[in-house]
Amino acid sequence: MTTMAERTESVIPAEADIDRAPGLLDGAMSLDLTPQTCNLEYWLGAVAQGTLRGLVHGGHRAEAATPTWMREPGPLRESLIEEFAFRSIAEEKATRALSYLVLHAPDIDTMEFFATQLIDEARHSSVFRGHLLELGVAPDELHGTIEHVAGEDREKILVPLENFGLPLGDAGDFIGGVCVLTVLVEGVLAPAAELSELKWRRLDPAAAEIERAAGIDEIRHLTVGGAVIKQYVQANPGELPRLKDLIERGRALWGGLPVLDMILRREKLFQEGMEQMGHVIGDYELAPGKRLIDSTPEERLMMAATWSLQMQDSRLSAMGLG
Ligand SMILES: [Fe+2]
Ligand SMILES: [Fe+2]
Repeated sequence: MTTMAERTESVIPAEADIDRAPGLLDGAMSLDLTPQTCNLEYWLGAVAQGTLRGLVHGGHRAEAATPTWMREPGPLRESLIEEFAFRSIAEEKATRALSYLVLHAPDIDTMEFFATQLIDEARHSSVFRGHLLELGVAPDELHGTIEHVAGEDREKILVPLENFGLPLGDAGDFIGGVCVLTVLVEGVLAPAAELSELKWRRLDPAAAEIERAAGIDEIRHLTVGGAVIKQYVQANPGELPRLKDLIERGRALWGGLPVLDMILRREKLFQEGMEQMGHVIGDYELAPGKRLIDSTPEERLMMAATWSLQMQDSRLSAMGLG
């Protein structure tokens, strides 16, 4: 007789299973997923009935709770509110931008994949907002709080990215839009999301699990987006210089955006809060041999920045854009 767990394992592929999926960076560099494998049928089985099954408020399992200390005013709570408020805006903007990729997708599998990604990003935006409510933000103050803590970062970081990417969508440049989304935006931000999962694991298990489930989606977005570009470049080698130039210009734009300032500001708040929570964090390690409690804001920033560079190099060469 097969047990429920065995039946589940046989249906849900490991990369979509919250307990068996690889970490975000590992998965994004090692898995080989394509729009042909990750179409709508895949998503309905592996994600809707797999990754997302049993998540409360769409974001985390009921047993991954938000501890009472996360609801008390102070730097720890503030740093998470800032982080998730910004993420909720970024994911909303990603959702809207994806409508162009659905519109211009060249075939059915690719259209279905980007339609599922559109829903994934809308879900991410929603669960980050949902966690702000779990942190005790009043429902009628939710949008005002997001605006207050993240409105300025949105104008300085997300609006310039939109101004760079959305005209490609208006022009019907499907592959250009995929490059901006998967190489520039998601590829650059993924390491910060991985760091977030690691650093909140003990302090706010609900936040860490929200990141974990979103990270599983992100593995799919990064690998399938990469496969779309790889297949396109193989079929249209004459486009290579244009796409390389686009990525170059996008990276130059990123370089001028105050992303590191924003992360460092949050990490400093986190540091202040974390130092009062040694009894909860204990010997928990961010990376082998590196205890979270011993890490500094600058070290954590460097960690994410280093991962980001490694991942971009490995992904670009995998796509044929190295
Ligand atoms: Fe997302
Ligand atoms: Fe994504």
